[in-house]
Amino acid sequence: MLQNPERYTITAALPYTNGPIHIGHLAGVYVPADIYSRYLRLQGRDVLFVCGSDEHGVAISMKAKKEGITPQEVIDKYDGIIRKSFSDFGIAFDNYSRTSLPVHHETASDFFKKLYDNGDFIEEVTEQLYDAKANQFLADRFVTGTCPKCGNEEAYGDQCEKCGSTLNATDLINPKSTITGETPVSKSTKHWFLPLDRYDAFLREWILEGHKNDWKPNVYGQVKSWIDGGLEPRAVTRDLDWGIDVPVEGAEGKKLYVWFDAPIGYISSTKEWAAREGKDWEPYWKNENTKLVHFIGKDNIVFHCVIFPAMLKAEGSFILPDNVPANEFLNLEGNKLSTSKNWAVWLHEYLEEFPDQQDVLRYALTSNAPETKDNDFTWKDFQARNNNELVAIFGNFINRVVVLTNKYYNGIVPAPNEFTEVDEQTLAELQAYPEVISSSLERYRFREALGEMMNAARLGNKYLADEEPWKVIKDNPERVQTQMYVALQIAAALSSLCEPFLPFTATKLKRILNVTSSAVEMSWKSISESTDLLAAGHQIGQAELLFAKIEDEAIQKQIDKLEATKTANQAENKKAEPQKDLIQYEDFAKMDLRVGTIIEAEKMPKANKLLVLKVDTGIDVRTIVSGIAESFKPEDIVGKRVTVLVNLAPRALRGVESQGMILMTNNAEGKLVFVNPDAEGVMNGETIN
Ligand code: MF3
Ligand code: ZN
Repeated sequence: MLQNPERYTITAALPYTNGPIHIGHLAGVYVPADIYSRYLRLQGRDVLFVCGSDEHGVAISMKAKKEGITPQEVIDKYDGIIRKSFSDFGIAFDNYSRTSLPVHHETASDFFKKLYDNGDFIEEVTEQLYDAKANQFLADRFVTGTCPKCGNEEAYGDQCEKCGSTLNATDLINPKSTITGETPVSKSTKHWFLPLDRYDAFLREWILEGHKNDWKPNVYGQVKSWIDGGLEPRAVTRDLDWGIDVPVEGAEGKKLYVWFDAPIGYISSTKEWAAREGKDWEPYWKNENTKLVHFIGKDNIVFHCVIFPAMLKAEGSFILPDNVPANEFLNLEGNKLSTSKNWAVWLHEYLEEFPDQQDVLRYALTSNAPETKDNDFTWKDFQARNNNELVAIFGNFINRVVVLTNKYYNGIVPAPNEFTEVDEQTLAELQAYPEVISSSLERYRFREALGEMMNAARLGNKYLADEEPWKVIKDNPERVQTQMYVALQIAAALSSLCEPFLPFTATKLKRILNVTSSAVEMSWKSISESTDLLAAGHQIGQAELLFAKIEDEAIQKQIDKLEATKTANQAENKKAEPQKDLIQYEDFAKMDLRVGTIIEAEKMPKANKLLVLKVDTGIDVRTIVSGIAESFKPEDIVGKRVTVLVNLAPRALRGVESQGMILMTNNAEGKLVFVNPDAEGVMNGETIN
């Protein structure tokens, strides 16, 4: 860990421009990165905070196909929406770029060429998955299948989002084209591979030994298991028509893999910024005294901790990240956030419902950030955070201070008289906060830091509640001068301490207190050193509400909206699948379907999905292994009347021979249900035709 760096390069994962962004993106990546950058700027550090739109890759092509527009139209649309959301929520990038810009194409292309010229790639013709119907090689999100590592059935061709493994498309079990639904064939094609195995020793030394203690355990653990699993060469080129051309001979029509070009986007974004600001970009990437920090979500860990560092190492002139504080995932009301299922709180929609309440969302997301485990966002929690914390503590304190100062002293900070022990202690506690909050932030503990900032507000709230100046004023106005003076110092400190977390509130509060950075020096250092942040005689402004109570109706509206999404998704699921190819009657007549009854059921040991059933088919009692254990408890299905395909060739599942199949379907909620013959008076063994 670099101590006291000369400058910081802070990056936030480039979002794919295939949709707008939602609270999960904000909570996991952009809010923590913004808090960290703002905090460092407040310390007077040299900070560069960059991001940009990730505009290549299959995600974009797929969206274009789906919407019937060109990839260029897709990226233009979502780049605009995403850019606006970031600025609306106060994510203060020094630069937000796009990977479709010439500066990026050139930077990524040069990077590839340099590695190519160094002999850092392996060039190889291999068999790749191919969709013959779509005339298209299938890589990345063009193909899904079962993850060989964890069994997730929706893994992509380059990555399983469930277990975080990076994959090769050819590793997938039962691959399926996402373009046509076809099972791919294999076809040979030439590609360039980055031989990660050559970086094994470097990665072990740099991360497994060098960052054992300062990287988050979730990040370190994932990297370790990936390295221990054995590093293999990874293709960094693709047969696609959208992306950056592979800049070498014999690669016509091929593009760079999106995960090769995208992280280079951090560098291009820096170059774009430097050109605009008349600065030199190189120290931000090449000087050993620069601290490089990547903020990402957990699905990006291997790309930022293994593949990109291997690329940087191969290139040779770049620094490596000092830390990669990846977060886990945020869920919404108990379910995984999902763009395709519209299970999300979209930032642009949030602002329509809660205009000017960006800080409330920033606050709720940080208080509940998925720093060490997946967390759940609920609207009730959001409301409670606002009403019980921001309004009742922070807002209440500031309001009292400002109202009373105006009432008693026409808004002029009174001169204090002698401090009591409580005053001294309160001021001493206040002076300790910058250090406490810094210490959490330096360790990327944003929830903890925010909690401490709120404790500073609690300190003020409690001070006023205990001191009760509104009562003391009658008998001892001199004492009230001191009380209000102390309370005003806390309010002033808060206007700076809250800035990284609640930038809009900070601006408002500074306006209310009539402190702009030029008028009063309010660095965190000054908070720890001085007791007159607001000197006697300073004129403050009028009270304004910092936070407004959020009523039940507003919350109910959001909950109803999610309910409506659920219903819409169920209706969507209900849409019939297209009819299969025609068959002849003889084909159908070959199937022997019977009415039966489940008479015994038990779990297959060591298998999550399988139940072993004994079924009375009227012909006999036989064993059938059925993959329904996640939907039914054994005891609940004994006695169920079912439809059984009895002449299906027997098959051994985990060593148990299954002699037939039970017919199932899905209900409106997508849950498995039995195809249940309305069986009164129908005997087991009755044929179905
Ligand atoms: N677009 C990727 C995602 O949303 C993140 C890219 S991060 C970068 O998962 F490093 F490649 F830029
Ligand atoms: Zn997996």
